[in-house]
Amino acid sequence: MKVRTVGVLGCGLMGSGIAQVCAQAGYETIVREVDDFQLQNGIGRIEKFLDDGVERNKITITSRDETLIKLKGTTELEDLRSCDLVIEAIVERIEDKKCVLQAVEEILSEQALLFSNTSSLCITELATAIKRPDRFAGLHFFSPVPVMRLVEVIRGLLTSAETARSAVTFARSIGKESIIAPDRPGFIVNRLLIPYLLSAVRAYEAQIGTLEDIDKSMTLGCGHPMGPFELLDFVGLDTTYYIATIMYEEFRDSAYAPPPLLKRMVLAGRLGRKTGEGFFTY
Ligand code: CAA
Repeated sequence: MKVRTVGVLGCGLMGSGIAQVCAQAGYETIVREVDDFQLQNGIGRIEKFLDDGVERNKITITSRDETLIKLKGTTELEDLRSCDLVIEAIVERIEDKKCVLQAVEEILSEQALLFSNTSSLCITELATAIKRPDRFAGLHFFSPVPVMRLVEVIRGLLTSAETARSAVTFARSIGKESIIAPDRPGFIVNRLLIPYLLSAVRAYEAQIGTLEDIDKSMTLGCGHPMGPFELLDFVGLDTTYYIATIMYEEFRDSAYAPPPLLKRMVLAGRLGRKTGEGFFTY
């Protein structure tokens, strides 16, 4: 099916990045947030990224302006009625996601595709909330969305082969490489990344090195763009804790068990960059 208009549910860090890359690829893009304050924050984030891009000579002023013309923000779900494809990127709570997927499916055409950007929830379980589960798949982006080139396409038990193919085609059309990942907690990237991040916390707790030295080991020794603690602060300690907990609950493998320090930092509200303090201070 021809996709002309894309809807994005949620204009947080992920949703705003997703809306931006869709608009930049030339799709009419409608992004929906629950209130004006969050919507303006998200749109502001997109404008800032595009302005920075102009300053760095990564994009032209014309391309920035064209992107912004393609992008519309709304707080009304009803405004997504004309969308051919909708990507859900709201808060990582299964009941909230089920609710919004159900509500949006009601107003979309029968041919519309529905994707979720969940990083940890079960795609097959989300699919049980809607009437056309064959037209639903996972489409997992990485932060910062406009910079990271990968998306994971997750085919749940009820996803049709055609929907999975459409997801791959759509990902390519917005300039992303895709991989097909299984509907298992963490898909592929987090299946590998989360145990790595958790083992860095364990190494720190075991006094193997300072935060700075562990980070330096992985940036200078292995060429990673960020060390594990900088990356933990970037992704969010709460997000990491949450994903790890879901993975541990399903696999019962100690590699995914959140270390005590991580739990306590989350309890203390030291969530990383977004709260100004995590393993490092911002
Ligand atoms: N417009 C256009 N391009 C921009 C831009 C803008 N406003 N801002 C940055 N870029 C481009 C830069 O031009 C640069 O590209 P080139 O190398 O081609 O020049 C690239 O983005 C990197 O930008 P910077 O040089 O400013 O920043 P940096 O070198 O410090 O890199 C980073 C920043 C990309 C975040 C890098 O540190 C990185 O890759 N970190 C790891 C991020 C990561 O692992 N993300 C995945 C997290 S896991 C996840 O998201 C999923 C989950 O489920 C938890």
